[in-house]
Amino acid sequence: MEYNSAVKVLEECNQSHLLKFWNELSETEQTELLAQLDEVDFASLNRMKDMLQEDSNEVDLSSIEPSPVIELTDADNAKYIPIGEACIAAGEAGVILVAGGQGSRLGYDGPKGCYPVGPVSDASLFEIHARKILAYEIKYKTEIPFYIMTSIVNNDSTIQFFEENNYFGLSKDRVKFFTQGLWPALTQDGKMILDGKGHIFMSPDGHGGLLRALKERGMFEDMKARGVKTLFFFQVDNPLVNICDPAFLGCHIADEADVSVKVCAKRDPDEGLGVVITNDEGKNSILEYSELTDEQKNEKRADGKLRLLYGSVAIHVFSFNFLVKEADADMPIHVAHKKVPFCNDSGETISPEKPNAYKLEKFIFDILPKADKSVNIAFDRAEEFAALKNPTGNDSPETVKSAIIDKTSKMLEKAGYSLAKDDNEYKYAVEIDPAFAAESSLQEALGQNFELICDMYID
Ligand code: UTP
Repeated sequence: MEYNSAVKVLEECNQSHLLKFWNELSETEQTELLAQLDEVDFASLNRMKDMLQEDSNEVDLSSIEPSPVIELTDADNAKYIPIGEACIAAGEAGVILVAGGQGSRLGYDGPKGCYPVGPVSDASLFEIHARKILAYEIKYKTEIPFYIMTSIVNNDSTIQFFEENNYFGLSKDRVKFFTQGLWPALTQDGKMILDGKGHIFMSPDGHGGLLRALKERGMFEDMKARGVKTLFFFQVDNPLVNICDPAFLGCHIADEADVSVKVCAKRDPDEGLGVVITNDEGKNSILEYSELTDEQKNEKRADGKLRLLYGSVAIHVFSFNFLVKEADADMPIHVAHKKVPFCNDSGETISPEKPNAYKLEKFIFDILPKADKSVNIAFDRAEEFAALKNPTGNDSPETVKSAIIDKTSKMLEKAGYSLAKDDNEYKYAVEIDPAFAAESSLQEALGQNFELICDMYID
């Protein structure tokens, strides 16, 4: 953007304060500020400002029902698994990982995907994910493109990590990094914030930024060129995720769904999972945890179970055509009150002690009601979900590693090995390289090879 257009655009949207230090900036800083302005989503700015005026997130649930949830039976699995496998084998499955978040709760210095969670190997989250994909590529002699969304903040370090680790055995040509958009934070009166004399505070626009980013960074062309029709979606912080689960893919394909959602029973009413509901237009949707009142969270059915029992853990399957169709959809904007560094009148950067601004984000699950057809499929959380969010306590490295040990130990026991326990906890850390066998055939592979495995992987 040229300086004169910037003056005009900013005047029109009441943001001229962003140029108040213009004359004090070096030429390079001026160019950088104009480049930043080019990135600002001015079209969404008014919607963002409107969001700040909305006073309550509370939703009237009186006309809202929990969504139907499918529990796959053995007969269902027998029907769906071959469909999912055929999709993978034909090279029609792709994988999308959203890894553009800032991981602020974990407080790790680097992309969250680089965090070591392997209880024996110290394998990173990225390594575990990549090698699960590799296992399917090997099993089905196929190619599975891996699309990784980063943000400008962690893109270079993410790519460098994959480079240094030789893409964990995957072909570099099939690992595609692309950056999501950035959004400014706003003050209560809707002003963007300078965090330096020539720099606007911007942060990733939420995992819902995926749709726009896929389109703008050329990923749809890549998918199309490779013949990808179905995309498995997940988040970086869950090492138990069953990437490309053939039963899940198969059920999605057989039902001709646009989006499918894996759901599990909430641990307790206060667990921070969004719940699946049928909205007042009869559409399957996910209602964020923070949008529920305590009463709604705790409401019980006649059988004593929670009325809103099933939560989404952000494991989805999307149809390629649906993603393309909805790439420009206006997604709802979610607002969070946060501490944002700002530049005071003297040009010094101040880190506030209390929240002083609103960060705005889009969430991917908000696309769900746009689907003509979507299905919710229940899974066993102990098998497939352990998220890394916090440095200690719930959802921390300790709980994630112990979930990996528990899952692996149970598989080894099922394969015939007996494992020592202390106070009902497994005594030894065990882990299996995910490339050893595709997750869906891991148990069978263990049965055939367990002596070899035990020698190699038990600490
Ligand atoms: P979270 O909402 O848990 O955020 O993201 P986070 O960045 O991991 O952690 P906090 O909240 O700052 O502590 C869930 C998933 O969505 C991705 C994250 O990388 C993670 O895989 N995400 C989140 C994005 O890709 N982009 C975003 O803007 C936000």
